[in-house]
Amino acid sequence: MKRIAVLTSGGDAPGMNAAIRAVVRAANFHHIEVYGVSRGYCGLIEGDLQMLSRRSVSDTIQRGGTILKTARSVEFTTYEGRKKAAEVLSERGIDGLVVIGGDGSLRGANDLWKEFGVKTVGVPGTIDNDLGYTDRTIGFDTAVNTALSAINNLRDTMSSHDRVVIVQVMGRHSGEIALHAGLAGGAEVILVPEKSVDLDDVASILNRGKAVGKTSGIVVLAEGAMPLDEVMSELKERTGLSFRSTVLGYIQRGGSPSMEDRVLASRLGVRAVELLKDNKGGRVVGVKGGEVIDLPISEALAIAPRFDEVLYEQAKMLSL
Ligand code: F6P
Repeated sequence: MKRIAVLTSGGDAPGMNAAIRAVVRAANFHHIEVYGVSRGYCGLIEGDLQMLSRRSVSDTIQRGGTILKTARSVEFTTYEGRKKAAEVLSERGIDGLVVIGGDGSLRGANDLWKEFGVKTVGVPGTIDNDLGYTDRTIGFDTAVNTALSAINNLRDTMSSHDRVVIVQVMGRHSGEIALHAGLAGGAEVILVPEKSVDLDDVASILNRGKAVGKTSGIVVLAEGAMPLDEVMSELKERTGLSFRSTVLGYIQRGGSPSMEDRVLASRLGVRAVELLKDNKGGRVVGVKGGEVIDLPISEALAIAPRFDEVLYEQAKMLSL
């Protein structure tokens, strides 16, 4: 393989730049040219590609966001759109494509492989950590630490004022950020989309806390678990405690990537290039038990996202 392309797609995640850098430099090491595609599949369809050198990715490993920009393409969801994207690659003599993104982006990579034989390799990049085939996705560790740092700050002020805060973290379909930030932040309650929310139960936990002398508390709410307003008003009514709320939002998507995310992104980027160098396509890379793995995209995406029940129960056990 002589020439490949790389793109980032879907929601950005800290560490995407470290992955792009790894792809460019590993490819360069193996004498393969790399083109960077702007704005994900949108830019691919429009032919918005530029050659990347080792120097183009200098000074990027520590930066959040993605230097290639990212987007969600409606046109790419159609067969015609994907055909255009495949044609752009073949016109430019590009034999392989690295796609860095979440579930939807990796599905797109699989479609290009299945429908047009484009040699694609998916790299998991999303703060949600919601891909079942890999223990970690790039960006998750940084996002959790951002949420955790906010929870620490909230703990100070809630304890000074004897209040309970409901802190909403990202995760429309995934409780991973809520679970890990909640456990690490010593939250009294963690609410996630994977578990049905029983507000009577939550109220009784907070009331039990009050009875044993707790004067403040933290409720971590994943955005997909239940609407914040509802949780707030119901808990106020059932406990008589003083509540405040904070929505962390997009703060969790930005910021300088953690060491974990930079190292993970670098390892996965290198493996992605090695697969393409060996003429393999239609695969994803990930990490299991500390080891870098790769497997067919369709097989990987058929694995349901994990939810760590044991960790969830342990968080409950340790909360009061
Ligand atoms: O990146 C994943 C995620 O943060 C989800 O948790 C969230 O629901 C979604 O992105 C929101 O992103 P956007 O507003 O860009 O669609």
